Amino acid sequence: MKILAFESSCDETAVAVVEDGRTILSDAIASQVDIHAVYGGVVPEIASRKHVEAIAALTEKALKDANCTRQEIDAVAVTYAPGLIGAVLVGLSFAKSVAYALQVPLIPVHHIRGHIAANYLAFPELEPPFLALAISGGNTLIVDVRDYTDMEILGATRDDAAGECFDKAARVLGLSYPGGKPMDELAQRSRGGVYQLPNSKVDGAPLDMSFSGLKTAVVNLAHHAKQVGQELDAPALARDFTQAVSDTLVPRAMLAAQQTGRKVIVAAGGVAANSIIRGDLERQCARAGYRLYLPPLRLCGDNGAMIGAQGYYEYLAGHTAAMDLNAYATRDITD
Ligand code: KG4
Repeated sequence: MKILAFESSCDETAVAVVEDGRTILSDAIASQVDIHAVYGGVVPEIASRKHVEAIAALTEKALKDANCTRQEIDAVAVTYAPGLIGAVLVGLSFAKSVAYALQVPLIPVHHIRGHIAANYLAFPELEPPFLALAISGGNTLIVDVRDYTDMEILGATRDDAAGECFDKAARVLGLSYPGGKPMDELAQRSRGGVYQLPNSKVDGAPLDMSFSGLKTAVVNLAHHAKQVGQELDAPALARDFTQAVSDTLVPRAMLAAQQTGRKVIVAAGGVAANSIIRGDLERQCARAGYRLYLPPLRLCGDNGAMIGAQGYYEYLAGHTAAMDLNAYATRDITD
């Protein structure tokens, strides 16, 4: 089954053709990162407009790259939530019109379910049940993936997402947007151990997380250093910050595995590209005897193929939508 998949929830317009949820036939992406970098973050209205400009030509490219005609498309999958509402609406409206014109089913896909499903594209043997650590720019979740479309949230951030925290910390260090990758590169230049940063716990909810205290601590450190004319050890701060994020995420993923008895852990989302977090996950999973799946870097960030992968399983579960399908800025992964 060939699915034409659309993703436009943030600053990447992405269109892919995916076969049977597992094989990428094409994966076309138009990134807007350079445009938003000028402003130090995503400007929602600009994002929507850029999606409008890119999506039609990108769809032609995705079909051409897949060597596939429109008539060969069996269904259309699209991110309908969560994300910047205007941006999601562009992809959703376009996907609806394509599904209508081709007279094929329209499949709504939750963006974070898509991130998790990116692993199905990289690892043919991977099947639920497993535990997913979904860490992206807007979401931070520990999810029990009981089946392809049956999930339970075991832990979540109570405030900022891990990626958001990376972006803000990078900004005060003067790094470019999005800050995750440059922070990762900077952190690799130091062994850390210089800055004492908070590792917050949520009372009575050991799997929940909080990143706002850590974010504020880095912002305050940078501002204080500037005020008193002190030089910051930027690589050390990047390293200590990243370690604090990892020390929040990784032990909770381990605890969730212990509590549920799952022996397979899957990482997903843009922050899953982080080298320190990947290393910590590898070490701790090896120690505990868990099988770990880390998506290849190109499948960590937003892409259309992941929406096609999850779309296939949503379709098998009978989850198709009518033309009145709406877009949502926030939506639970379990809905
Ligand atoms: O999954 P994603 O592409 O978009 C969302 O669905 O949100 O994640 C983007 C986030 C950004 O915050 C970016 O800074 C972060 O992923 N990121 C990283 C790394 N690469 C991207 N964070 C830490 N280390 C990285 N290497």
